[in-house]
Amino acid sequence: MNHESLKKYIQENRSGLLNELMEMLKIPSVSADSKFKDQVLKMADVTAKALEKAGLDNVEVCSTSGFPVVYAEKIIDSSKPTVLIYGHYDVQPPDPLDFWHSPPFEPTIRKTDIHPEGAVFARGSADDKGQFFIHVKALEWMLKNNALPCNVKFMIEGEEEIGSPSLVNWTKENKDILKADVILISDTAMLGPDTPSIDTGLRGLAYMEVEVTGPNRDLHSGVYGGAVANPVNILCSMIASCHDENRRITIPGFYDDVVELSEEERKIFAKAPFDEAAYKKDLDIEEVMGEKGYTTLERTGIRPTLDVNGIWGGYTGEGSKTVLPSKAFAKISMRLVPNQDHHKISRLFEQYFLSIAPKGVKVKVTPHHGGNPVVVPLNHPALKAAQKAVKQSFGKEPVFTRGGGSIPIVALFKQVLGLDSILLGFGLDTDALHSPNEHFGIRNYLKGIETVPLFFYYYSITK
Ligand code: BES
Ligand code: MN
Ligand code: MN
Repeated sequence: MNHESLKKYIQENRSGLLNELMEMLKIPSVSADSKFKDQVLKMADVTAKALEKAGLDNVEVCSTSGFPVVYAEKIIDSSKPTVLIYGHYDVQPPDPLDFWHSPPFEPTIRKTDIHPEGAVFARGSADDKGQFFIHVKALEWMLKNNALPCNVKFMIEGEEEIGSPSLVNWTKENKDILKADVILISDTAMLGPDTPSIDTGLRGLAYMEVEVTGPNRDLHSGVYGGAVANPVNILCSMIASCHDENRRITIPGFYDDVVELSEEERKIFAKAPFDEAAYKKDLDIEEVMGEKGYTTLERTGIRPTLDVNGIWGGYTGEGSKTVLPSKAFAKISMRLVPNQDHHKISRLFEQYFLSIAPKGVKVKVTPHHGGNPVVVPLNHPALKAAQKAVKQSFGKEPVFTRGGGSIPIVALFKQVLGLDSILLGFGLDTDALHSPNEHFGIRNYLKGIETVPLFFYYYSITK
């Protein structure tokens, strides 16, 4: 592995590497919204072409019951280990559009305090096009320079942002094709631009929708107000009663399977540098808030949560309308930690929510997608390889953290394929994933391309 020539290649090809990424970012591959269906399909083709150009074999746009999975491979020697790279080419909807400083699908480079070398602003830049493309470009370099030391397979899906509904079956049906020794994923964040870190876990997710119905029709809030249950008022108090005064979740049995970290484990995670003042400043908040007795990084890494993602009902148009609404709705997500099970938590939520409903309303609870939490074994040879690779490319030992987000398919990879995943993310939490003005630092992108071949090298010699 010639690190110097890799660095030189990246430096000399900087604009080409950026332009290719920008082309991908022009395609609005929003999986959640059917009006973008053709664009999602187009993105699958463009991904396949990029893999072909990189020199991979057997590139295929594989149909599933939903959007296709793009598969590719390079088998150099079947006696050597195989790394399976996973990523997603779909993106979140760009709304709310008014808050974007440049259009979400017209990639634009701007400097920020955190990214003095510039960042590419576009939906999907960090989540996950910029990150999976790191692997495409790293593989291209390795293949051109005869520097691929083991086998590699790619599976890039198009439904991650909607909970990967088709991927479980596809994975089960393609178990043989997906045979590998480890999965490598770049779809998470580092702690800071100069604080490389590797996530050794992800939270799970249970996502619910609730509907509260009061009277059979909207009523005049003067004529009936005070005498009939208002479903919006009721829903608000039901949601409020999901937390106690210490901001612990009150659902009976919710914490039963939560693995409490030992003081020693907590000390290890506490070593991760974290600037709370900068965190608050970035968010324009006076104080952080969360479960009593835990730090901010613990609250997002090792503790479960319950949050309303959206709530609606009654009159929300211009001006005022006096109305006592018939219905109220909310979308509520719970982030889960080991060893909580998303099916069990969904059931507990439903039972609790129905139990706290007053007689004057009817409550319906519908679970959406979910996924279980994951932990990466700290002694995994590929984790050690990732650690060495990051140390060499960033010139700094990476810290181990737990990611607060979820990639539900990762737990299923373990269950179905028996494989652990290494979460070698290059984004930053402040990159505005899922928000307006999502961006990906140019330095992060290029450092990623530098790190991946080092990972392959170290993995092939430690494995
Ligand atoms: N890449 C994210 C997950 C992520 C982001 C993990 C940052 C760790 C740090 C992924 O694309 C995502 O957004 N997942 C969703 C779940 C999915 C079912 C919609 C999430 O975490 O909300
Ligand atoms: Mn992602
Ligand atoms: Mn995402």
